[in-house]
Amino acid sequence: MREPEQWPAVGLTGADGRHMLRPMRILTGLQPSGKLHVGNYFGAMEPAVRLQDEGEGFYFIADYHAMTSMQDPPALRGNVRELAIDFLACGLDPARSVFFRQSAVPEVNELAWILSTVCPMGLLEKCHSYKDKVAKGIAASHGLFAYPVLMAADILLYDSNKVPVGKDQKQHLEVTRDIAAKVNEAFGEGTVLLPEPIIREDTAVVVGLDGQKMSKSYANTLPIFGEEKPLKKLLMRIVTDSTPVEAPKPTAGSTILALYKLFASPADYVAMVADHERGGVGYGDFKKRLAEAYWEFFAPMRVRRAEITADPGYVDQVLAAGAARARHEADKVLARVRLAVGLR
Ligand code: ADP
Ligand code: TRP
Repeated sequence: MREPEQWPAVGLTGADGRHMLRPMRILTGLQPSGKLHVGNYFGAMEPAVRLQDEGEGFYFIADYHAMTSMQDPPALRGNVRELAIDFLACGLDPARSVFFRQSAVPEVNELAWILSTVCPMGLLEKCHSYKDKVAKGIAASHGLFAYPVLMAADILLYDSNKVPVGKDQKQHLEVTRDIAAKVNEAFGEGTVLLPEPIIREDTAVVVGLDGQKMSKSYANTLPIFGEEKPLKKLLMRIVTDSTPVEAPKPTAGSTILALYKLFASPADYVAMVADHERGGVGYGDFKKRLAEAYWEFFAPMRVRRAEITADPGYVDQVLAAGAARARHEADKVLARVRLAVGLR
């Protein structure tokens, strides 16, 4: 673990031409859209937690964004809380990172408005995320259409240097950079800071219980938190072929092995591969081993989660402190932008 003093510094030139040094700022948001699954953990949560070593994390729960695809107030409230607990249980360290709820800094909407006045329609019209969501039956609201503008505001409001996201968000990051360039063109260099995306191209896609990509939309997910019995039972549902116990089993394309690799030690993984190749061990046994490795892998996080849940004030306190720190940064940037555009 790297302490904040060891974070790499970046040099920035403010709109006033002054040069300053500060730790690299890494920002990302996660939508509160339901129970966290193993794909979300390895694809988004774990990389974000790891990046806390590289700079000052600004991590937020994108509740405004979630409203573009859900209109269920108690569910939204509940999901935000659950995601906050999950994030903290998985290793987000509020002493090092700024952790907050997007809507706790409503100033982001003002910046979004300013950005929307320079954002060409064509830039939003070509976003495939919008088209995909509408094709899936999500109402084509203005909010859904303007989603990338709010996302750009999230990023620019905190002078973010690096933005780690999954491949699906790559285009949104391009839109952010295009909008930022337009702002600087219209109102002067240095009005906003151009962020660098970190696209997780190489994160392997985590497979679901049916062998497809694990996703809420395919109902094939394995939650990372829950009761032991139902979770282990869920693992027994993994789809396998009908190779008899005595025969060698295929290793290529094996869902059990793909998941086991995520949770087991390298030696245990190699042993399971060997047992597949040799034959004599049935799928039921492999699934049991997988269930045990999975259960053990998340054990420390489960313990942490129970502690956090037992202290309801803790989460509120963390989010309030994070919001105050985020707002402090947002105020500075917004003051600069308001002045540049002529609102002050
Ligand atoms: P879902 O597909 O279940 O709706 P989301 O789209 O909400 O998941 O994903 C949230 C984050 O988790 C994104 O950064 C995405 O890249 C990551 N993620 C989701 N599913 C997987 C997976 N199967 N493998 C790797 N990363 C994933
Ligand atoms: N759109 C992102 C997602 O669905 C979440 C998000 C909102 C985000 N604002 C952001 C990610 C800013 C990175 C930076 O995954």
